[in-house]
Amino acid sequence: MTPEVVRRYAAPVPRYTSYPTANHFKAVVGPGEQSRWLAGVGESAKVSLYVHIPFCHTLCWYCACTTKMTRRPEPVRRYLVALEQEIDRVAEQLAHGKSRGHKITHMHWGGGSPSLLDPDSIRRLGAALRTRFDLAEDMEFAVEVDPREITAEQVAAFAEIGVNRVSLGVQDFNQKVQDAINRQQSFELTRDIIEQFRARGVASVNIDLVYGLPHQTVDSVKETIAQVLQLEPDRIAIFGYAHLPSRVTHQRLIDESALPGIDERFAQSNALAHAVTHHGYRAVGLDHFARASDTMASRPVTRNFQGYTTDAADVLIGLGASAISSFPEGYAQNAVAVGDYERRIAQGGSGTARGLVLSEDDKVRAKVIERLMCDFTFSARDLLATFGEAARPVVEEAADIADLERDGIVTRTADGFELTRLGLPLVRTVCARFDSWLGGHAMRRHALAV
Ligand SMILES: C[S@@+](CC[C@H](N)C(=O)[O-])C[C@H]1O[C@@H](n2cnc3c(N)ncnc32)[C@H](O)[C@@H]1O
Ligand code: SF4
Repeated sequence: MTPEVVRRYAAPVPRYTSYPTANHFKAVVGPGEQSRWLAGVGESAKVSLYVHIPFCHTLCWYCACTTKMTRRPEPVRRYLVALEQEIDRVAEQLAHGKSRGHKITHMHWGGGSPSLLDPDSIRRLGAALRTRFDLAEDMEFAVEVDPREITAEQVAAFAEIGVNRVSLGVQDFNQKVQDAINRQQSFELTRDIIEQFRARGVASVNIDLVYGLPHQTVDSVKETIAQVLQLEPDRIAIFGYAHLPSRVTHQRLIDESALPGIDERFAQSNALAHAVTHHGYRAVGLDHFARASDTMASRPVTRNFQGYTTDAADVLIGLGASAISSFPEGYAQNAVAVGDYERRIAQGGSGTARGLVLSEDDKVRAKVIERLMCDFTFSARDLLATFGEAARPVVEEAADIADLERDGIVTRTADGFELTRLGLPLVRTVCARFDSWLGGHAMRRHALAV
């Protein structure tokens, strides 16, 4: 593929952690829908939990996560009180009218930085979830950790409550890049924290990296990945920097003149993927890599709000400010601002502020986009088998791919198409074709496709 083709297709597009994407959620979904959907979850349904901790001790200038900076313990303490109330209420609604509880097979604490919780708070929150929900014996329990701020006592507390996967932010080890993003984090410190978790029996480690950051070059990201590979993580997530300064105001602190261009981003992404796969990792979806021994390398993957996952649950329950729940009927999101979330919980026990009721057409398109993002394929036969005639209009749209074929992005298969190796990085652009919610004006809200 020529650089010209890359540039032409690299228009801003969503990350597709859900379809429709969260910017289309509206107040038509509120506490009533959330509680009805919770009560309607069948007894045999697989359920997973996501818990959001929206605080960090310092702010990384590139960060697009829903978090705020605090150095004081009080806001965190207040938030945890609201969170426990929400846990009580949601667990009660989920259990409504049922003879037995749902086995929770996956739990994920994300943020922000759950590693900013003190050891007692970690134990208390862990116990609240364990007593209110029926956690499966072999549940996957993952926590996002900022290696710069975690102590041995916190590591011990996470291990004690059953955490068996940690995901650590690294982004880049280069000093100049770290200065430009306000995130100082040495290789030695990162190695030490990983060793501490492993010594406590938390065997599975993921590392997050980002390319497209200020001052990064192909050579500098190669140096970072060589160091990361020494740490032998089970999974590596490699994200393209999403620069949206109009929406994420602190990103204005990033020096735009130091940001790599599209061709350079593409080259960095390729260099990283090459280094990791050359080292024996398997590529999973668009931005994850897993060692052959990791479940992600052998199990089918899907997508949820955290990105790629092996979690095949029918229902995902999001707890905490901004957290999104996903039900067969639709999505329900809690109030994003911490104060708003706490107020809603104090008033009525529910944090739900907005969401979306899925139409049949949304469900068809959601499946197409999920399969494209995960397997890079479109199969008319599979889609018709799942949705019947409701899938027909989308199947017809999918036949119209002559331009993508001509540009070497897809090739036709017996009943649809698949992305070529060169086309893979542009998969989100292909997904966007099936996104009936994406108006032209919406494009500016999203980040570059590569
Ligand atoms: C919640 S943080 C990870 C845990 C912890 N807070 C930390 O930073 O170590 C989630 C990850 O999202 C990624 N991320 C954040 N902002 C991003 C952006 N603007 N573009 C691409 N990736 C981003 C980073 O790789 C980051 O590690
Ligand atoms: S990258 Fe992690 S530590 Fe940095 S601001 Fe974002 S959530 Fe906080």
